[in-house]
Amino acid sequence: MASHVEEVVEPDWDAVITDEVEWCETRANAFCIGRHLGNGSFGRVVQCERRVGAPPFREFALKIYSRARLRKHHRFAHDPLTGRLAAITGERKVAAEVGTREVSHLRSLYRSLASCPARQVEIMRRLWHRNIILLFEVLDDTSAESIGLVMEFCSGGCSMSYDEADRRFVSSATGGVLPEPLAAQYFDGIARGLLYLRDRCIAHRDIKPENLLLTEDGTIRIADFGCARCFARDPAAVTVEHTDDAPPEASGDGFVCDTAGTYYFLSPEACSGESYSAYDADAWALCITLFCFVFGFLPFDDEGVGPLMDQIKTQPLPLPQPLPDDGPSHLLSLLTAALAKDPKSRLTLSQLSAHQWLQEHSMHGDGSGASVP
Ligand SMILES: Nc1ncnc2c1ncn2[C@@H]1O[C@H](COP(=O)(O)OP(=O)(O)OP(=O)(O)O)[C@@H](O)[C@H]1O
Ligand SMILES: [Mg+2]
Repeated sequence: MASHVEEVVEPDWDAVITDEVEWCETRANAFCIGRHLGNGSFGRVVQCERRVGAPPFREFALKIYSRARLRKHHRFAHDPLTGRLAAITGERKVAAEVGTREVSHLRSLYRSLASCPARQVEIMRRLWHRNIILLFEVLDDTSAESIGLVMEFCSGGCSMSYDEADRRFVSSATGGVLPEPLAAQYFDGIARGLLYLRDRCIAHRDIKPENLLLTEDGTIRIADFGCARCFARDPAAVTVEHTDDAPPEASGDGFVCDTAGTYYFLSPEACSGESYSAYDADAWALCITLFCFVFGFLPFDDEGVGPLMDQIKTQPLPLPQPLPDDGPSHLLSLLTAALAKDPKSRLTLSQLSAHQWLQEHSMHGDGSGASVP
């Protein structure tokens, strides 16, 4: 599924592959590149092996950023049209004043800065949790044209992948939607990961099935910290100074004004143009993800950004009809309460973690639950 509405032109992989291989092989700690795992906005992700000592060699995933592509996007930061990054905060007002094309431009600017590897690395380095992808090493040689993030390899791939033609999510484990016990196991793991992030004042901001990967033993891991934000514990300590490589930290309480991430997973308040809690928005995206896990389609779906945002703000959740005679199941109760339009009346992440639906599927205290089929 298109990660972001502002699409970035696909690079010519054949042209860059020679440089990448050369880059990896000339390093002291040589990584041997294997198969292609996915495309990133500023590079791509490949499987690799670290050829040190005797085989078997350990496998990793290498996210490769092209400095040239990053530089190209950073130039927008100085474009007189966009002005300072702070202009993003008034996106809706700007839309009224200058039209949607310029707003896309602003979004593109924000996204490019938000995805910069420096901040991603800064955030990921602090994380050590069963449900969060582990960063091992950063290959950042200023003389090289690429920057590499060496992460643990998740051989199970994405929790679900999106079929653009059918507009449906498919699990490679089942060939269709996820059975409730498995969806509950994944949901529980992601919620634990998000609670851990929140404890460290970090919001992920791009929770969706493609960014939730599976290890060989079926454990779910939160990946892709390209949109993540770290907030100051003490709001008074928010830094004002920033460089192109490190966008300014947002307000200390987790409130933001911009629309980072993927539009289909945005919360109603994120579509409003007002400031909103990035933590609440993560919980909303988690529940949209759960909806995709069990029903296989997006609850709010329109190719136009405006109509999509209107749906998110006003349309009721399209739950399967008719409901069971004995009332909605625990799953439907959870989805209805977690996807209430008003964030104040919504279930919190901690409440979601303790919900009866998870108890029904006997989630254990260690985050493991029903077994992968
Ligand atoms: N550690 C990993 N193990 C296996 N596959 C991975 C791993 N990391 C990424 N991938 C694959 O590569 C795809 C793209 O990776 P990722 O989500 O990090 O990039 P992205 O969405 O383009 O990020 P960004 O927006 O920061 O450029 C994933 O959806 C997944 O299929
Ligand atoms: Mg991604």
